[in-house]
Amino acid sequence: MPEITATILNLFRTAGDSFISGQQISRTLGISRTAVWKHIKLLRLQGFEIEAVTSRGYHLVSAPNSLSSALIKEQLTSVVIGSNIIYHDTTASTNADAFRLAEEGAREGTTVVADSQNNGKGRLGRIWSSPPGVNLYCSIILRPQIMPFEAPQLTFLSAVAVARAIELTTTLQPKIKWPNDILLNDCKIAGLLNEMSAETDGVKFVVLGIGVNLNMTEEQFPHDLRTPATSLFIEQHKPVQRAQFTAIMLNELDRLYTDFKRFGFEPVREEWQARSAANGRQVEITDGGQGRIRGDFAGIDESGSMLVRLDNGIVERIYSGDVRVL
Ligand code: BTN
Repeated sequence: MPEITATILNLFRTAGDSFISGQQISRTLGISRTAVWKHIKLLRLQGFEIEAVTSRGYHLVSAPNSLSSALIKEQLTSVVIGSNIIYHDTTASTNADAFRLAEEGAREGTTVVADSQNNGKGRLGRIWSSPPGVNLYCSIILRPQIMPFEAPQLTFLSAVAVARAIELTTTLQPKIKWPNDILLNDCKIAGLLNEMSAETDGVKFVVLGIGVNLNMTEEQFPHDLRTPATSLFIEQHKPVQRAQFTAIMLNELDRLYTDFKRFGFEPVREEWQARSAANGRQVEITDGGQGRIRGDFAGIDESGSMLVRLDNGIVERIYSGDVRVL
C-alpha cells in the first residue's frame, strides 16, 4: 500500500510527545494492528527510534538523522552554496520558496531545505512525491553571470554533485540520464528541476531544485510512477545520514560551481558524460516537441543539448523531452 509509512510519520508528527495507540493508527489507515506493527518494524529498520508501550501505543523518540540546518551546517565546508540555509519541516515546494526569496533579493547560495513537501514539483508539470522523514528536498539560488541559453548547463552541475555525493557516501555507482535523472540499476534515485528568471541580456537568478530518494521504502513510492524508482536505502539496505549526505552534496556543488565560473562548462560536461547512462546505447525521445526520435546517443553539446545520431547518419540536437535508454 503506498505512503502508509509516510502517513504513520505524519500521525507521529501531529502527536508530538504523546503516544498514539496501535488501534488509532490501524483505524486511521484502515489496516490491521499486525500490519501497523509490520510498518513500525520497517520504520525502525530505517533508523526511526520508536517506543512501544503496552496499553499506551507508540511514540516517535527520534527520526533518523533529521535535516535541521544546524546539522547540515556542522558538516559544510562550502564557500557559497549553503552559506544561508532555510529549513522547513514542511512546505509546498522548496523551489517555489527559493524562487520567491530570490525575487526578494536573497543572496547567491541561499539554500531552502525541507523535510517534506506537499506540492513537490517535478518536470513537465508532474508531482514529486515528498513524504516526511526519509528523503532530501532542497533548492539552491544561484546568480551566475551567464546568458539565458546557457542556464541549462547548471542542471549538469547539480547532476554531477548528486552523483559524486552518492559515490562518496556509498559503494554504489550512479548513472545520469539526460537531462535530469540520476539512476541506480536503471531506476530513478534523484530528480532535478531548475527554474530561472532572466532578461534578454542575462540571467537574473537560477533555482536548482534537487530531490534525492534517500531512505524511502518501496511501499512509499506512488504506484503510478512513469519511471521505476529506487532509494539509497533500497539499494544498500541501510539508512543514510540525511544531513551528512546533504552537506556532502552541497560541498560538491560548491566546488563544481567555483570551477564552472573559472573554467566554464567543459570540465563538468566531460565528468557528466563519463557517467551517462546512455553511453554506447540507443535512446528514444518523446514529448520533446520534435516528434518521436530514436537513434544512437552521441553525447551532449557545449550548451547541454543531447546529440542523437539517426539511422541516416544525421546528428539531431535534442533540447527537451522524455528519454528512454534502449
Ligand atoms: C523531476 O525529475 O521531475 C524533477 C524533480 C525535482 C524535485 C525537487 S525536490 C526539491 C525541489 N522542490 C520541488 O518542488 N521540486 C524540486
